[in-house]
Amino acid sequence: MEYLLGIDIGTSGTKTVLFDLSGNVMASASSEYPMYQPKNGWAEQRAEDWWNAVCITCKSVLSKSKIAPADIKGIGLSGQMHGLVMLDEDNKVIRPSIIWCDNRTAEECKEITQILGTEKLIGITANPALTGFTASKIMWVKKHEPQNYAACKHILLPKDYIRFMLTGEYATEVSDASGMQLLDVPHRRWSNEVLDALEIDKALLGKVYESVEITGRITQAASDSTGLSVDTPVIGGAGDNAAAAVGTGVVSDGKAFTTIGSSGVLFTHTSRLAIDPKGRVHTFCCAVPGAWHVMGVTQAAGLSLKWFRDNLCQDYVAKAKKRGVSSYTLMDKDAERVPIGCNKLIYLPYLMGERTPHLDPNCRGVFFGLSAIHTKSDMIRAIMEGVSYSLKDCYSILEEMGARPDEMMICGGGANSELWRQMLSDIYSCEVKTTVSKEGPALGVAILAGVGAGLYSSVEDACAELIKTDTLQKPIHENTEKYEKFYSIYKALYGKLKEQYDALNSID
Ligand code: XUL
Repeated sequence: MEYLLGIDIGTSGTKTVLFDLSGNVMASASSEYPMYQPKNGWAEQRAEDWWNAVCITCKSVLSKSKIAPADIKGIGLSGQMHGLVMLDEDNKVIRPSIIWCDNRTAEECKEITQILGTEKLIGITANPALTGFTASKIMWVKKHEPQNYAACKHILLPKDYIRFMLTGEYATEVSDASGMQLLDVPHRRWSNEVLDALEIDKALLGKVYESVEITGRITQAASDSTGLSVDTPVIGGAGDNAAAAVGTGVVSDGKAFTTIGSSGVLFTHTSRLAIDPKGRVHTFCCAVPGAWHVMGVTQAAGLSLKWFRDNLCQDYVAKAKKRGVSSYTLMDKDAERVPIGCNKLIYLPYLMGERTPHLDPNCRGVFFGLSAIHTKSDMIRAIMEGVSYSLKDCYSILEEMGARPDEMMICGGGANSELWRQMLSDIYSCEVKTTVSKEGPALGVAILAGVGAGLYSSVEDACAELIKTDTLQKPIHENTEKYEKFYSIYKALYGKLKEQYDALNSID
């Protein structure tokens, strides 16, 4: 038998899934790790935690499935995008990784824009300078930690650090590299012009591959740590969103998906390069060779619900433990009993600043309209609605760009909730479908690995054969009308708070 392995290095944890060539799950394992927030608006993780989780989950999958490791014909890597991993000359990690939802680099973004000019920057990297992207994080370390920058010999993204640990190769692939703001996105190669202007040495960066290319093979040391077989090919893979696109079959024009993981993303495939001149949505290379995608990002989607659960829902956590169910399932059940609009409570999900549509690192979360009538259930539902309104903001921009999708898939942890799926269908006013396989990014990179290993003829063909749709939510007109009233208040709130957000941020 032949198998493929998908490893997804997420923000809350790493998930490793073993698939047969029909995309059936043979075994899967997850391992969690913390996110550190040394200051308001900062977010870091330890690269060593990711590697540890990869070792644990690979061993667990191999022992659960009892397959011979040599029967794995290809490994694909998916991961949270944008995180900065720096290695010294001995390949030791220099500092904790500054990850995608960290917002400390507003000043560096201004500098990048000044140095290159908005037009040139967007022309080459397809995006304006954003705090989430890697370039500004590199500039921050250069300015604030010159000793660390001087020691840095290699710069890698989170999943590419895992690639290095597995294969010894310093490499990346086009979809994730797009989020570094150092790639010439139209031409799918490092931009010498951007690197020179920002004075970043190209030698620090890995080689850029297409997502389906073989980038290296499992070394003896990695085999000892993970149980994987020496010489198994590791394929480029993709950033988590480009990977989820493949795992949900979003690989041709007109197709889109929404994911509710730690971040929320609305992603649409495009075979022609399309850029929002206002920079509110990102344009990146996608995992299908020669194609791109446009996506809007809600910084704190599942992250909002997790924050609420971890800090305020220990009662749910305890009850869920007793009953052997997920705490989110219990929270979801209670939210279902709350009417649309949560008895006049609106949540702005800006815990980690916001990307689409505001591009504002300073804004923060709000419960608006809080009254003594409200219960925890109202607040849980308000979080789900607020995240959905933020995704509606992304949807509206795509419509404005003439990229209204014909088919909308939904995936990520949030897609397990029928309530959330129906809510999105009502708020977008479009049908929303899930796929039979719930393994989005891990399946996506396993498919890429299969293409790279020569087991499938192309990404598109493999998706046509392997990805099957499952549930379908149709918009309920009456609900759409009810949500619209709250959405219009939600939309107005950011503008009214903007000045106060900046004032709050400026207090030392
Ligand atoms: C995308 C982004 C997030 C992360 C974490 O630009 O920052 O979606 O990839 O999932």
